Amino acid sequence: MSRILWGGATSASQYEGGFTDGKGLDTQDCRAYMPRTSNNTIETRLLTQMQIDEAKNKNSPYYYPFRVGTKGYEYGLSDIDLLKELDLDIYRLSISWSRLFPTGEELKPNSAGVEYYDKIINKLFNAGIKIFITIDHYAIPLYLVEKYKGWSSNETVDAYMRFSSFLLKKWGAIVDYWLPINEINAGYFSPFNGVALVKPENGTYNYNDIFVSLHHQFIASAKTINLGRKLKVKGKFCAMISCFCYYPLTPKPEDNIELVKVEQINQWYCMDILAKGYYPYYAKQFFNKHNINFKISIEDKELLKNNTCDIVTFSYYDSCICSAKESENQTAGNLVATTKNPYLKATEWGWQIDPIGLRTTLHKVYDRYNKPVMISENGLGSKDILTEDYKIHDQYRIDYFKEHFDQILKAEKEGVDVRAYIAWGIIDIVSAGSCEMDKRYGVVYVDADNNGKGTFKRYKKDSFDWYKHFIKSRRKRGKLK
Ligand code: BG6
Repeated sequence: MSRILWGGATSASQYEGGFTDGKGLDTQDCRAYMPRTSNNTIETRLLTQMQIDEAKNKNSPYYYPFRVGTKGYEYGLSDIDLLKELDLDIYRLSISWSRLFPTGEELKPNSAGVEYYDKIINKLFNAGIKIFITIDHYAIPLYLVEKYKGWSSNETVDAYMRFSSFLLKKWGAIVDYWLPINEINAGYFSPFNGVALVKPENGTYNYNDIFVSLHHQFIASAKTINLGRKLKVKGKFCAMISCFCYYPLTPKPEDNIELVKVEQINQWYCMDILAKGYYPYYAKQFFNKHNINFKISIEDKELLKNNTCDIVTFSYYDSCICSAKESENQTAGNLVATTKNPYLKATEWGWQIDPIGLRTTLHKVYDRYNKPVMISENGLGSKDILTEDYKIHDQYRIDYFKEHFDQILKAEKEGVDVRAYIAWGIIDIVSAGSCEMDKRYGVVYVDADNNGKGTFKRYKKDSFDWYKHFIKSRRKRGKLK
């Protein structure tokens, strides 16, 4: 019998808004919307101190979309009615760190924030929807960035532990899955979002800062798992990476060995540590090559070894190509740019659509870690049109789902222990990469534009009915067996 739970996800900064009510300024609140040019996603992803100072300026002329999100703080409870109507098995949400601990240093959480999450989590529980909580999804209190340089210091680990231990104690009895850090390998490609490192003035990040920060995230994850198990919380613990399904550009051995090396660092490195419990052999040479040098204490090694994750999860949006020589024919993708693949179509944002790549990834991940697997994010980011009669005919999203779901079910038949598929941005949210509203993933449309103008009313897309019907038919099939 299929064990797959079918779900949907959002993240606090992309969805909630609710910028007042005691919430502190966080890293995402500082990212301004800039109309898209071919290559400005980097500018909107990697912030300098100057951009942060501008964000703190009350008279700044820029629009900061993550301060508004899609108003989940206002619509959260009625949005859960929609999720219930959709018949979702599981909903993945993140908790805004700075809503509960505005600077990260408070000893007690902001009560308005606790009240909001209490209502949301209890409503999900009462609706019979399994609850998947991401503790940190790309947003940390700005105070920790300015005082301690984000994840590069131990003090941020301490602040994170105050946050995560509060969550485990408060909702440990009803949450089903805990994920300490979203897409942990993002810290490597997108150090501002991932590990809260401000872009240096000379424009170049230092590898040592990035890998020390990642180490601190590994420690924070392991400490959280350790505490959760001591507290005997109900939920299982996940780890998450972003997967890119690499292909060699040609059958040339040089391209293939390049693939092995790129895949090790870009894709597997963090999960090797979180799922196996130790630093992989290939880290040594990589560290030497890039002058990365930090001490890993015996206590840290023990902590990592004894607190590996229960479930391996990954996001998957597109596949990538590796070659010994960099090709000029590049296209965008989630977190990394890549060479264009002539066999694949791409989204309007250039991300190459590859359902078989998802099945390949399921096999590779399961084979490497031998733990249950969840697809914690996947979906199609596209422009949608709201018709005059308030419909959204998104057949392209239905086709995308169908093709990806077919491959997931095949992988399951082939023996992969797949536990969940969680559709990204189930209700439209602001894009994390480009800060746009135009790039929509949801089966529920939110009437808002790139500048935050609109009614923010919710409308069901055609994909809503399709997904609902799909979930129902899977459930019936499960019962028949
Ligand atoms: C993942 C992130 O990298 O990709 C999400 O975890 C993000 O937060 C998603 O929204 C899709 O990326 P984008 O840039 O299209 O929003």
